[in-house]
Amino acid sequence: RVAYVNGRYVPHSQAAVHIEDRGYQFADGVYEVCEILKGQIVDLTAHLDRLDRSLDELSIRHPMTRVAFVTVMKEVVARNRVRDGLLYIQVTRGVARRDHVFPGPEVAPSVIMSAKSVSIEKGLKAAEKGMSVITTPENRWDRVDIKTVGLLPNVLAKQKAKEAGAKEAWFVDKDGYVTEGGSTNAWIVLNDGKLVTRPADHGILRGITRSVVMKLAEKHGISVEERAFTVEESKSAREAFVTSASLVVMPVVKIDDQVIGDGTPGPVAIELRKTFHEAAE
Ligand code: PDD
Repeated sequence: RVAYVNGRYVPHSQAAVHIEDRGYQFADGVYEVCEILKGQIVDLTAHLDRLDRSLDELSIRHPMTRVAFVTVMKEVVARNRVRDGLLYIQVTRGVARRDHVFPGPEVAPSVIMSAKSVSIEKGLKAAEKGMSVITTPENRWDRVDIKTVGLLPNVLAKQKAKEAGAKEAWFVDKDGYVTEGGSTNAWIVLNDGKLVTRPADHGILRGITRSVVMKLAEKHGISVEERAFTVEESKSAREAFVTSASLVVMPVVKIDDQVIGDGTPGPVAIELRKTFHEAAE
């Protein structure tokens, strides 16, 4: 495997950044995860738009032009011979002697990229079974719309889920409303067939997969209500599912101890998963 590190392609096993990198010391950086399907980067433009926005929100200089970004992304996919898998991009504020305030303009942002293959069959198998989620109190900061590498609450929540025999944790705000998963957006299907997902304010990440599913639902004549839903409402929903670049559309069959529907993936989630790449770019 090969990774891209600050202008060079290096063996993955030797790909390293400096100990004074601000991503390492302060989580002062942002990232993107893109799906790779048949050698193509899915929704590439949307991911680069969101990366630009994350950088702007944190006043991190854009490390290179859009054209250069696309060239390196494709090169990393090609050099790793990935047909189906995931591409990871991370940009941090760069390497500078430890000091909380921003370094001067002489410090260039750090850019790394890597790609790995992921088995399509495994994803299909997982989707046929569906997954369990737990709920956990929201304890992140109030700008989770910025895709920063500061993911400690997400790490702890997902570990808690794993220890409970679940795959994902849904964060729940102080009013009892689900915000999103540790690395996914959360959805429910009402008894009348409508989809519900939380509005993309500062309280969730505006998922690219989420946006595509909204378009797809419209195409299928399914209405989407962009509003917050409570844990209670989700537990009595007809279906539930999550979306992300890595899981695409993944049915949820259990929330805490409550089985959803008949405990198997629902037809809406299955259909959205099957047709997802019709709507993606
Ligand atoms: N996670 N919410 C959170 C907190 C996320 O980390 C992600 C993505 C999403 C879904 O966004 P998208 O549809 O653009 O992937 C929602 C990536 C895949 C990750 O951290 O691995």
